[in-house]
Amino acid sequence: MDIKALAEAYAPYIVERRRFYHTCPELSGEEKETTAKIKADLEAMGITDIHEMEGFYGLYADIHGGKPGKTVALRADIDALSVHEESGLPFASKVDGKMHACGHDNHIAMQLGAAKILNEVKDELCGTVRLVFQPAEEIATGARDMLNAGVLDGVAAIYGVHVWGSFDAPYIDFTSGNRMACCHGFQVEVEGRSAHASAPHEGIDAVTVSCAIIEALQKVVSRINDPLNPLVITVGKVTAGNRWNVLAGHAKLEGTVRTFATGTQVEDEMRRVIENTAAAFGAKATLSYQYMTAPVINSDEQLNRIAQNAVVSMYGQESLGHQPTMMGSEDFSIFGEHGTPYIYGFVGSRNPEKGCIYSNHHEKFNVDEDILHRGAAVAAKFAADFLAETAAE
Ligand code: NI
Repeated sequence: MDIKALAEAYAPYIVERRRFYHTCPELSGEEKETTAKIKADLEAMGITDIHEMEGFYGLYADIHGGKPGKTVALRADIDALSVHEESGLPFASKVDGKMHACGHDNHIAMQLGAAKILNEVKDELCGTVRLVFQPAEEIATGARDMLNAGVLDGVAAIYGVHVWGSFDAPYIDFTSGNRMACCHGFQVEVEGRSAHASAPHEGIDAVTVSCAIIEALQKVVSRINDPLNPLVITVGKVTAGNRWNVLAGHAKLEGTVRTFATGTQVEDEMRRVIENTAAAFGAKATLSYQYMTAPVINSDEQLNRIAQNAVVSMYGQESLGHQPTMMGSEDFSIFGEHGTPYIYGFVGSRNPEKGCIYSNHHEKFNVDEDILHRGAAVAAKFAADFLAETAAE
């Protein structure tokens, strides 16, 4: 099967679909029309084993190979952002205030391209390819909903990629190890006691206590955390007080933690520092903590090798790039929570010659479309090779 040649033949289709989906973005949890259009696109290819989700949008579809084997999943996220598009592209969003600014339109198009290729060669496939079109990535609920709905039941491995605006086209990255950090959310309620601003000794100032807590949290990063463990603690929102001349009796801090460490160590240390810092001033502080997504870590050497080889075998060693590890997060990691091995990659989409210089989520974000058929080919090749390699196991 010549997957590279098929991808080149389907390149115009993939670009056309990318532009189409770019015009009609839908926000996380609202992907009704996007799901319907993907279903129609799959049906037009002759793929009929399609499963829509109950209670949320998105779907999965199975391509059954002609030979026995395992099931491998390919995942594309399909939601857009509340960004007003300023790209000036002829296929810019037609929906005011909504844009595929994270590039998930490209993920849909690459996966449709992979579907077309794999459906063409299905007689040669050893097992089943499950095409997962996932909603609500941006709010980190889509992967969990699909996992809970059993979409990965019986799946031996799952593959995902992201187009990346600061990573040069046409490089593709499947680096082993830490790739993206976890995303945790937290809130701190600080209870002091209000008083006249001129008499601070008669109250407990929730503002100065909050300042001490924020300062102390940075010492969790620099003095308590192992410096070899990347850790970010950011307080992004502070609300306190009612008037300029009244001591604030209450404050609320909201923030996020990013790390590759698993377990509750960071939460436990933060709670100790927060509660005791507040207590030192006679205040009370309460930490609420949410584990939203786990880190993305490419830890399965077999999957790393098959994915890297998919790039190298079709496009040469020089096409395998390296996107540095980042502290941003991805809900793809949730698919690994029940132990399903996964591989996550980056498809470089930056090309200054074509004006593709903006980062993901920017109102002028755009990709070098010449990467899209490559992304489709690599996904298809990964799936075919994984199934062939594991069929004998
Ligand atoms: Ni994204």
